[in-house]
Amino acid sequence: MKKIAVIGSGTMGNGIAHVFAQHGFLVSLIDISETALQKALQTISKNLDRMIAKGNLTETQKDDALQHIKTTTDLMTGVSEADLIVEAATENVELKLKIFQELDMYAKTEAILATNTSSISITKIAAATKRPAQVIGMHFMNPVPVMKLVEVIRGYATSDAVTQTIMDLAIKLDKVPTEVNDYPGFVSNRILMPMINEAIYTLYEGVAGVNEIDTVMKLGMSHPMGPLQLADFIGLDVCLYILKVLHDGFGNPKYAPCPLLVNMVQAGHKGVKSGSGFYSWQHGTKDLIVADRFKKSLKS
Ligand SMILES: NC(=O)c1ccc[n+]([C@@H]2O[C@H](COP(=O)([O-])OP(=O)(O)OC[C@H]3O[C@@H](n4cnc5c(N)ncnc54)[C@H](O)[C@@H]3O)[C@@H](O)[C@H]2O)c1
Repeated sequence: MKKIAVIGSGTMGNGIAHVFAQHGFLVSLIDISETALQKALQTISKNLDRMIAKGNLTETQKDDALQHIKTTTDLMTGVSEADLIVEAATENVELKLKIFQELDMYAKTEAILATNTSSISITKIAAATKRPAQVIGMHFMNPVPVMKLVEVIRGYATSDAVTQTIMDLAIKLDKVPTEVNDYPGFVSNRILMPMINEAIYTLYEGVAGVNEIDTVMKLGMSHPMGPLQLADFIGLDVCLYILKVLHDGFGNPKYAPCPLLVNMVQAGHKGVKSGSGFYSWQHGTKDLIVADRFKKSLKS
């Protein structure tokens, strides 16, 4: 396996392209937006510089990695020679089904089609193709160059051989792959999202404030950050979307999104990306200033 196509050059796509290129693979990075592609190349270059500054990479290795990446806005030419395609486009079911139908037409018959989706069923995506045994979840974590885990998700029809190939490949990228089955939220979000939802309920019911909840989880449980700060980073709209997938998928009320989360998303308070969530992000990520709405208890 030498040639990799990555679809989508946003937060995850540029990280995935970076990691493959750094490990000597030839990467074709595809996006519908030329601006997004240029931004991705700048981000990759900056992130490689950061590795050089830490003494983890040389200038020559950086140049080499960048030379391994070609960009295009044309899906057909971008994927035609790829042995593996990793789709990391916007999280939207209809969009992903359409992309996989097209990949099935344009990719080599033996190519493996992987998706980085956080929540959409791999089995459903695979069913949009005529090669469901070759479709698999390859769920990288954000930021991709830093995070070790790759959650490898087997769809209902994914073959043993394809799963093994992806597990071996992740090891070659210096990652730790973990094989899981395809049920709502897989393992990562099935456990993470109810914790975040419970933290939001704890705030909603006035048990404690934003700082208190995050401090308990950070210092008491040794989490690198509290669940409300993490929710702001992930995006409250994304958290709500994944909770709905869990709620619909299992039909269990324990996954029902907290009404406060629903309200915040409706009001456009989506966390870091909108400048306000549980914290105010107007002054940059280092200022953990509790958003005005939460400065006094919600119950008062
Ligand atoms: N952001 C995270 O923390 C995170 C973590 C794990 C998994 N994911 C998953 O990764 C995927 C990408 O998320 P992201 O955060 O990088 O999104 P993003 O919004 O940063 O980037 C998505 C990119 O996809 C491009 N795109 C949209 N339609 C396209 C198409 N038809 N063809 C090619 N490119 C197209 C957009 O132009 C954009 O550049 C999603 O499935 C998401 O669930 C995200």
